[in-house]
Amino acid sequence: MRVYLETFGCQMNELDSELVRSHLVSLGHSFVDATDAAEVILLNTCSVREQAEQKAYSRIGIVGQRKRAGEQLLLGVIGCMAERDGIDILRRFPQVDLLCGPSELDKLPALIDNAAKAVQATRAAARAESAAVLPSRRGNRALSDGRVALAGNRTRRTATLAAAEDDLESLDLARAFQPADLLAAGRSAYVRITRGCNKFCTYCVVPNTRGAEVHRPPDHIVEECRKLADAGAVEVTLLGQTVNHYRYVHGAALTVNGREAAQVGPGLSAFRATASAAATTQHRAGAITRRTTSFADLLRRIHEEVPSIARLRFLTSYPRDFGNDVLQVMQESPRICRYLHAPAQSGSDRILKLMNRGYEVSEYLEFIERVRDALPDACIAGDFIVGFPTETDDDFEATCQLIRTVRFKNNFIFKYSPRPGTVAIDRFPDDVSDEVKRMRNNTLLAVQAMVGASVHREWVGRTVEVFIEGLRDWTTPAGADRGNGSVSGGKVHLAWEGPRQAVCQRQAIGRTGGDLIVAASFPSDQTPPVPGSIHKVRISGAAPLLLTGSVVS
Ligand code: 5AD
Ligand code: SF4
Repeated sequence: MRVYLETFGCQMNELDSELVRSHLVSLGHSFVDATDAAEVILLNTCSVREQAEQKAYSRIGIVGQRKRAGEQLLLGVIGCMAERDGIDILRRFPQVDLLCGPSELDKLPALIDNAAKAVQATRAAARAESAAVLPSRRGNRALSDGRVALAGNRTRRTATLAAAEDDLESLDLARAFQPADLLAAGRSAYVRITRGCNKFCTYCVVPNTRGAEVHRPPDHIVEECRKLADAGAVEVTLLGQTVNHYRYVHGAALTVNGREAAQVGPGLSAFRATASAAATTQHRAGAITRRTTSFADLLRRIHEEVPSIARLRFLTSYPRDFGNDVLQVMQESPRICRYLHAPAQSGSDRILKLMNRGYEVSEYLEFIERVRDALPDACIAGDFIVGFPTETDDDFEATCQLIRTVRFKNNFIFKYSPRPGTVAIDRFPDDVSDEVKRMRNNTLLAVQAMVGASVHREWVGRTVEVFIEGLRDWTTPAGADRGNGSVSGGKVHLAWEGPRQAVCQRQAIGRTGGDLIVAASFPSDQTPPVPGSIHKVRISGAAPLLLTGSVVS
């Protein structure tokens, strides 16, 4: 069938979509770029904030109109909304034919086949058929009209059970390694190292929608990196909600044929014992008796065993428990990018406590100090939530101050959005008005823009390696501001040294190892840099979110 797949939300969802795509293609389905040409429309949804859900609902509405107008289409809602809203979506939206949570995506082809049959058959026949076709061992719920919701993570399972049932591992393992796909993706690829999350920040739906933290066997991860590199990947980003908590205990979870399987992660308690006295070197002997692969070990293995990966990145780091062992491996491994995405979420200890983040501002700063000592060039990015319940002006000012102190290169800033199923929505009234949230959001963007501009300015005059992601035609307007970009009304205006007359130029766009975005000019008589290649660029200008310069080699 012809499938159109739209992805909302984070990198995890992008990777899920890629895996779903390659699974469906291997079974004979094809993908189209427009909904008009599709027989199946899949929406891979995100539940982290209400806004993302609203976008998906509006898509569901549009498809509903087309179906009511007589079009024969299948509509599938997959990802976190399918897990969070479950069967309620099927009840509220008759146009939705199937639901599939993130932990059941390996079964999506069967769901599509089943839904297609149900559409062809009479409704009565479909009713009898489909409930029998798709027995799920966990959380399978069917409506009486035959539509089926698969959602599995509501019950968080034990390590052994989870390992034995972790069919999802097969989806990662069955990934197709197509050089053409990698070329289209700019030779950059994601590799999952953990699924789910055990942290239970009070505002966050992820532990509910993606379930318990499951750690993949290191051999599987290294092999996937190797296959991607062989197929042409130059940059690999390791993904997990809290990558630095990766820890695989060998021999603890095996498949029936004795192979290593994914296993449930230890949760915060495993780190608490070591956190205070030795936050710097946990993941080590003492607490661990069996042979263990820590996150630092995993990074070292990939760096050493797959040297053709020129850039190895990882997302997202949990600020506490970030060991010096990881920093040491980064120091010793030139192909590991000096970049950390380590969300602080708030600069107020009181709010951090209400968020159940598990650290205080002083601990966050201690972590940043260790990063700066070990890797002076490292760029640090993060996330902040403004307007968390009870957040006062003083709490907010503390957040502004943290951004200035840490000197983040950039931050993703979100207005608090109460999410059903979280602790915060039950415990804390959403008492910061939307207007105040909006103001704080804009103010924080402006603070970040000032800080970002000064971080970017430090790179002017240096020559950096840039991983080229694409080309753009760029017109520098006549008399453009000279300077470093400006901020007004909470918006960032990029500007740099401009010529007297408008100039139109091709530029290569890419990123430094520290994830700074670079727009680089190159001589017009020279072949343009190819996406996926790495070039040296001399930096001559800076704005809050961008460096400019020229390709030197
Ligand atoms: N409201 C607003 N932002 C949220 N995030 C997670 N949950 C919420 C929520 N309920 C943000 C956090 C997280 C990022 C992925 O999304 O900052 O790091
Ligand atoms: Fe959500 Fe916290 Fe887990 Fe991040 S660490 S996914 S914010 S629960």
